[in-house]
Amino acid sequence: MAKTRTTYLCRDCGGVHPKWMGRCPDCGGWDTLEAFREPEATATVGTVAGVALRGEGMGEDGSSVAELTLSQATPLPDVVGLEVPRRSTGVAEFDRVLGGGIVPGAAVLLGGEPGIGKSTLLLQTAVGMVRTGGRVLYASSEESPQQIKLRADRLLGEDSEGLDQLFLCTETSLVRILEQIRRVEPTFIVLDSIQMVHRTDLDAPAGSTTQLRRCCHDLVQAAKVTQAGLVVVGHVTKEGQLAGPKLLEHVVDVVLAFEGDRDRGHRVLRAAKNRFGSTQEIGLFEMTEHGLQEADQAAEAVDAAGGGTPGLALSATMAGTRCLPIEVQALTATGFLGSAKRRASGLDANRLAMLIAVLEKHGEQRLADQDIFASVAGGARVVEPAVDLAILMAIAGAHLGRRLDRGTVVLGEVGLAGEVRSVRHLEQRLREMGRRGAKRALIPGVQAAQGMTLGVECVPVHRVSDALAALD
Ligand SMILES: Nc1ncnc2c1ncn2[C@@H]1O[C@H](COP(=O)(O)OP(=O)(O)OP(=O)(O)O)[C@@H](O)[C@H]1O
Ligand SMILES: [Mg+2]
Repeated sequence: MAKTRTTYLCRDCGGVHPKWMGRCPDCGGWDTLEAFREPEATATVGTVAGVALRGEGMGEDGSSVAELTLSQATPLPDVVGLEVPRRSTGVAEFDRVLGGGIVPGAAVLLGGEPGIGKSTLLLQTAVGMVRTGGRVLYASSEESPQQIKLRADRLLGEDSEGLDQLFLCTETSLVRILEQIRRVEPTFIVLDSIQMVHRTDLDAPAGSTTQLRRCCHDLVQAAKVTQAGLVVVGHVTKEGQLAGPKLLEHVVDVVLAFEGDRDRGHRVLRAAKNRFGSTQEIGLFEMTEHGLQEADQAAEAVDAAGGGTPGLALSATMAGTRCLPIEVQALTATGFLGSAKRRASGLDANRLAMLIAVLEKHGEQRLADQDIFASVAGGARVVEPAVDLAILMAIAGAHLGRRLDRGTVVLGEVGLAGEVRSVRHLEQRLREMGRRGAKRALIPGVQAAQGMTLGVECVPVHRVSDALAALD
């Protein structure tokens, strides 16, 4: 009979240690080690598609959890089917973050603060999958089918026809969830959330490192075997990290974070890891009474034909392949020499300090005794250097009481020598802003040739002082 062995697993980094210590030697976290019992390698916890899912971990002989086929090393050119097939989830913004849809057999971990809207997003996605011809198992370990139905009624209103391929189950036992997967044979599985799910053959409580790791592993295997897309909800800790060991993030193919400003109703879906696509793309939603609305043009609040007030500057930032208009605002007020305040909201504070120094040195402004506040309208966060010049122009405008013409977009990175440097995707930004009604653009002098044919009047600027001359 196989021996069981107790090791200690770090909740934060997943490091495994033979004895308990107060501090994890790998990540330095205090009191993060938890007892972890290696299972007997032969216990079967469930079968999916005729394949037994064993009590996982490596067996005595080094065999893996579910012995699907005897694997053999294959030369790369002989590997077939490299093209990644994708299924649309029916929610365009979700597809965008996944890289164009969910890959069959892929496992996605979705994290987010309590009440941010994870269950709402997944229920809408489940409905979207069914409407595009999928078969969905929505397993909830936290809510009753009635609660889910209540939410569905709120989201769908009258429009609840044709959802007979959406199966709900309320289960906390992993074995029974696997059994449901076997029976329903879904193409898409949702588990909300992994924290409550447990395996009865382990004597650790639900939500412990041991349970999380095992249950997640089994579900991922089940998804691989049945070629169903799997989305698992994970909780986040107070610090905003996904709860459970980092190991959970290694087990899955995609890690998504659902974030947002609860007061404003904006929600952003980001990928922290994606084995099948870029992590640059973001999904934009707005939480309304009828659920999450996809907000493809989320920055509607910014009027590209607007501006025209001292202290405002329009610009455009790239989020993945998408161009979003933003409005930078600045205010200067008399402060005390030597202890003037500099505050940034939605912008990088260090970058702001640097831009103020450049403006003093190369724009010949005296700002040492000025309190300076700069922010991005609408609560967006921008860290891209391409908006440097817009921040600088907003501050200079606020200080001098001068403004840019209405509908003027400002694009350019500012260097320490007072030069305006090039930005990526200039054409795309100009096109998008032109489409939204912008008339004029200050662009980096080195990219003058690129902007001339795009329908927006381009003013090339080589230095910060050239840009300041554009203020009325
Ligand atoms: N009747 C309603 N009208 C408008 N918004 C609502 C309504 N009911 C719920 N909401 C929104 O939905 C949010 C809850 O969504 P949901 O249950 O999907 O969150 P969650 O991330 O799954 O939460 P948890 O972590 O508790 O599971 C609320 O915070 C609220 O913003
Ligand atoms: Mg929920």
